[in-house]
Amino acid sequence: MTATSQVPAIELIGIDKKFGAVHANKNINLTVAKGSIHGIIGENGAGKSTLMSILYGFYQADQGSIQIAGKPITIRDSQAAITAGIGMVHQHFMLVENFTVLENLMLGAEGGATLAKGVDAARAALKKLEEDYELEVDPDAVVEELPVGLQQRVEILKALYRGAEILILDEPTGVLTPAEADHLFKILGVLRDQGKTVILITHKLREIMAITDTVSVMRRGEIVATRKTAETTVEELAELMVGRRVLLHVDKKPANPGDIYLSVRNLTVKDSRGVTMVDNVSFDVRSGEIVGIAGVAGNGQSELLEAITGIRKPTSGEIWIGGRNVAGLDPAELRGLGVAHIPEDRHHMGLVLAFEESQNAILGYHRDDRYGKGFFLDPEAIRKAAVAEIEKYDIRPPNPRLKTANFSGGNQQKIVVAREIERDPKLLIVGQPTRGVDIGAIEFIHKRIVETRDAGKAVLLVSVELDEIRSLSDRILVMFAGKVVGEKTPDAGEQTLGLMMAGIAA
Ligand SMILES: Nc1ncnc2c1ncn2[C@@H]1O[C@H](COP(=O)(O)OP(=O)(O)O)[C@@H](O)[C@H]1O
Ligand SMILES: [Mg+2]
Repeated sequence: MTATSQVPAIELIGIDKKFGAVHANKNINLTVAKGSIHGIIGENGAGKSTLMSILYGFYQADQGSIQIAGKPITIRDSQAAITAGIGMVHQHFMLVENFTVLENLMLGAEGGATLAKGVDAARAALKKLEEDYELEVDPDAVVEELPVGLQQRVEILKALYRGAEILILDEPTGVLTPAEADHLFKILGVLRDQGKTVILITHKLREIMAITDTVSVMRRGEIVATRKTAETTVEELAELMVGRRVLLHVDKKPANPGDIYLSVRNLTVKDSRGVTMVDNVSFDVRSGEIVGIAGVAGNGQSELLEAITGIRKPTSGEIWIGGRNVAGLDPAELRGLGVAHIPEDRHHMGLVLAFEESQNAILGYHRDDRYGKGFFLDPEAIRKAAVAEIEKYDIRPPNPRLKTANFSGGNQQKIVVAREIERDPKLLIVGQPTRGVDIGAIEFIHKRIVETRDAGKAVLLVSVELDEIRSLSDRILVMFAGKVVGEKTPDAGEQTLGLMMAGIAA
């Protein structure tokens, strides 16, 4: 190691920040080595985004100081951060959707490290960045037409184009497929190897273990530990995050299955392009058991759930629920038959983010007698139901009047889980229940799903997290290329299931 590389890329000294009564960052000291990937993990609300927003000049710390490459610096706004070589890839991308990649890159770069270049120069610079960092993207593609993984790549390119030496990524994989996430990690590895410094914020322990060099754990506004990644374990980090021992595996009794409640027969489903996504699939789910569907994302699981919950019409086949063929019924009719659905995409299907919590707590169930008579809703009954769910599910903050958009991801998911499970369904359909959810909420949601099973309900679970499938399911079906390629018990090895998921073994 040379002398210069020992000067840390970033030093945060005594950073403190309050929002009214919320003490979001408490006397934070953090040193980030140049040319490293430094992970920051912590539950939702731990203060990670606040700390990074201070580093990026969105917020001013109440106290403390910052040094970049050994020099004290005041970061008054994000322009100052960019000038200091800090780039940020936001949780919600800040690209202009109907502009091309190149236009987005040039936008707002004035005054940065690459003053007012012409289009040709920008194109050449982009090409060079692509080559240096294996960041391929079509400069003339319109951003809104790109898949999410590529949009994120544009955000990274934009930061590099502005001369970033330090790159901050805040929960970058929440929106990505596993393949896109793997690709992102490869890119981050290349950036690090080229001497860039990366701060990766996540609550996914697996990601921390896979790509970081160092990891700091935040809890309730404090950094409670910093470890070399190679010298820690998932269990230790999980415990540091929540401050107590968590069960990464789910404690549950053997299932006590009853009669078949859901029976899918020769079901075929096409997507909106007319491509067959579910191909002649048959399986049963009994009351009192959890059947998990394992598979790599995009092998028909989403379309299968959409067909069973009435969102997408099947092309052919039958869906028997409680002894009745319900293929073709709409979601409201299915809810009436006791089918509850925790959808995989809570932002588009599970919640209306602009509504208050209490309105989402009854979404889809507003015709229920409990909430009013005829056309008239009873606000007091709705509020009471919402408050009861908030208490039982420990939804934070406990405010039924708060707009749903203002809850964290984990708490939003709890709102959906509470609404669906508390309706006492006969069949619970669950898609990706813990995607983008912090570890405390994961444990909680897993327990509720097992309790639903133990109450004698039939549960169908789809998840791309194999660990989740293995720890929750009583039986596992593996989907590959639209077909169920086999059934296993949960004690089947990860490798066996992995090979089936890859279409290699049946
Ligand atoms: N602009 C703000 N105004 C008020 N409270 C905020 C603001 N930003 C964050 N907070 C609060 O600060 C705490 C830390 O939030 P945040 O830094 O977003 O956590 P994390 O990114 O770890 O989930 C939370 O309690 C959050 O509600
Ligand atoms: Mg955050």
